[in-house]
Amino acid sequence: MTKLLRAFDSKKTPKLSEDKYAFIRDLKKPIVLDIGCGTGHSSLFLATKYPESVIIGIERTKDKFSKFIKNIKNSEANNIIAINEDAIPFITQFINDRAIDEVFILYPNPYPKAKQSNKRFHNMPFMSELIKKMKPQAKLTQATNILTYHEEALGLFTQTWKLKLTRNSLVSLNANRTLFEKKYLQRGESCYELVISM
Ligand SMILES: C[S@@+](CC[C@H](N)C(=O)[O-])C[C@H]1O[C@@H](n2cnc3c(N)ncnc32)[C@H](O)[C@@H]1O
Repeated sequence: MTKLLRAFDSKKTPKLSEDKYAFIRDLKKPIVLDIGCGTGHSSLFLATKYPESVIIGIERTKDKFSKFIKNIKNSEANNIIAINEDAIPFITQFINDRAIDEVFILYPNPYPKAKQSNKRFHNMPFMSELIKKMKPQAKLTQATNILTYHEEALGLFTQTWKLKLTRNSLVSLNANRTLFEKKYLQRGESCYELVISM
């Protein structure tokens, strides 16, 4: 069944600093977003995988973000922009329409309780805004260790958001893109991945 969600109202997002972030709108390289990147292992992985792109790693908590900055400093990566903000106002206000080449949402907070279900990315009106910001050929990759989350996301992405399923697979056992991924796989849990396109 297709779920009805309220429309996203970009004007209601908290206003972030133009001085700090206006330059993002002028980026010329392909843009890869790493939403909820935690301590940034995935952003470092993506920086190596996509050396010609700029990786925008977004993490809202201060403590994880400061580890992210340390990790960048200890690396040779020169194509990461680290953003310590909530991804929703940041993307809404500073990413141009049809500007994103690829999006990664790796091991998002699962919000398992029914009353928190509207906090899952695929259930948020914000998803319409994120889709607006993606290039027509862009892909979105989501990984989780929770099968019900994976299945719910698959339904929402394809039925509500009318996106195409490109891949639905288990994450390989030796994957090591994020700390959460490493932890789940090491304790023998399955991790599930969706690749979605427009
Ligand atoms: C379960 S952790 C996974 C971190 C990392 N992706 C990994 O796999 O190791 C989810 C992260 O997403 C961040 N997050 C959740 N919602 C966010 C949002 N709206 N904007 C920015 N960060 C967010 C949380 O602070 C948290 O660090």
